[in-house]
Amino acid sequence: MLHITSPPSPPSSGLFLVFEGLDGSGKSTQCNLLAQALQERGYTVVQTREPTQGPWGQKIRTMANSGQRVSADEELSWFVKDRKEHISQLIQPALQQNHIVIQDRYYLSTAAYQGSRGLDVQQIIDSHQEFAPLPHRTFLLDIPAEIGLQRVQHSRGETPDAFETLTSLQACADVFHQLDYPGLIQLDGQLPATTLHEIILREVLTVASRL
Ligand code: TYD
Repeated sequence: MLHITSPPSPPSSGLFLVFEGLDGSGKSTQCNLLAQALQERGYTVVQTREPTQGPWGQKIRTMANSGQRVSADEELSWFVKDRKEHISQLIQPALQQNHIVIQDRYYLSTAAYQGSRGLDVQQIIDSHQEFAPLPHRTFLLDIPAEIGLQRVQHSRGETPDAFETLTSLQACADVFHQLDYPGLIQLDGQLPATTLHEIILREVLTVASRL
């Protein structure tokens, strides 16, 4: 099991909710449904994602689409730089203003994807403890790698990018399955989207009512 050695506490203001899973796991659908449901209930929601639209995030997307990957260490450093900017410029300020942050991917994606390239997963997780706030809840949408790849290729009509080969996605899934992480809720990503949404919303409203 991979776990946090000394779990930090989640931020004391706001609500930080993260979605993780393989490409094609349905994260963005669930982020949108949750954001809408919370806004309808009067909450201020900030919806965001990683990689970001910032300079490092754009560099990552350009690299992924080109199919020419940089070394695993360099790739890791780009994701970390993107994340540090994201935390200081958007995530922390939004939480300090007591908003709900709904985020598509965070550092468990780094653990899974850069871990699948041979980097030390535990070290990736531990190094993030120094600067990355702990989400109140992380929803991991679990799907087999084959299904994720099919969904990316067929339903979205996209050509898989450099992160999306069956072998590498299977390695990512292996890491996701080993995680023992505070606030992590693993859900079957093959459930109907509305069922998943109901489960997630119920959990989020319970957490929100305790704040
Ligand atoms: P993704 O959420 O799929 O963005 P988009 O829908 O714009 O393609 O993220 C792009 C890829 O980046 C995805 O295959 C996973 C990968 N990734 C990492 O390898 N490490 C990370 O830390 C993050 C956040 C993403």
